[in-house]
Amino acid sequence: MSELRYDGQVVVVTGAGGGLGKAYALFFGSRGASVVVNDLGGSFKGEGNSTKAADVIVDEIKAAGGKAVANYNSVTDGDKIIETAIQTYGRIDILINNAGILRDISFKNLSDKDWDLIIDVHVKGSYKCARAAWPHFRKQKYGRVINTASAAGLFGSFGQTNYSAAKLAMVGFTETLAKEGAKYNILANVIAPIAASRMTETVMPADILENLKPDWVVPLVAVLVHKDSQESGSIYEVGGGHVAKLRWERASGLLLKADDTYTPGALLKQWDQISNFNGAEHPTGPADFLALLDKSMKMSPGDKGQTLDFTGKVALV
Ligand code: NAI
Repeated sequence: MSELRYDGQVVVVTGAGGGLGKAYALFFGSRGASVVVNDLGGSFKGEGNSTKAADVIVDEIKAAGGKAVANYNSVTDGDKIIETAIQTYGRIDILINNAGILRDISFKNLSDKDWDLIIDVHVKGSYKCARAAWPHFRKQKYGRVINTASAAGLFGSFGQTNYSAAKLAMVGFTETLAKEGAKYNILANVIAPIAASRMTETVMPADILENLKPDWVVPLVAVLVHKDSQESGSIYEVGGGHVAKLRWERASGLLLKADDTYTPGALLKQWDQISNFNGAEHPTGPADFLALLDKSMKMSPGDKGQTLDFTGKVALV
């Protein structure tokens, strides 16, 4: 099988000075793409800045015969990062929103500053880069976006309310980008990676980190942003050789007539049904929910205590 190539394409990798971003940048640089290596060069808590982080990676890509240019802006000035791609290479094909920081602290002690900084870098930063790339993607009817979520966002994680909120935002953002981008061949996917980096080196044991090389997140991203990919709006968990798609699951649920018989007591009576995952479905859009509302509205006043089996039939209980 021939290797996946990205010749003639321009890839922007944010936070490419270390960790996962560095692994993406080196990979795309070695597979024919021109890479914009963005990195603010601050600490993992978002303090300070330096040009060194990006410069080192650009030098490494060039030394290996690849094409790369550095950008030192914060992702919150994403338009400037995309401008570097356009001014240097005349286009942008792939955007990997990867830059990130942590401000872990228990919710009790969380300050507005800890909250704002995390939301700014992850949410606003991803938005600013994607927003600036979007007109180019639409015009050329081609674009690939990877956003970066986290298990902390999907499942919650002690001491990370700010980070969890920001990371789950990446899921909704991606799912909507995928819907709006579909007709322009713009694909957007979101990954929840796990890898050894300065972010994780203090919280995970060395033997586990040994098996979590950032390089092992790269193959999934490489496949998702390739020109032949058709995957969009998907969520993946990836790290250490494990790759799995995640999706929303809705319990088979309870459907009651929405009238004055719909009381807390009526709900409580059939509470188990609300969280019964036998025969669950996997909704992909708000329309699925609207269809349920429609069914509820059409129930006759005497109907109560009905469950949907999601084959479209309503069964009396
Ligand atoms: P890292 O700290 O090694 O790399 C992040 C890079 O982003 C750094 O080089 C940093 O200088 C840069 N950066 C930070 N703020 C920036 C800004 N405002 N503008 C431009 N660059 C900025 O961390 P790692 O582990 O490689 O993380 C990459 C992404 O993956 C992050 O979004 C992180 O939240 C996410 N992630 C990582 C996990 C892991 O296990 N390493 C787990 C889940 C999510």
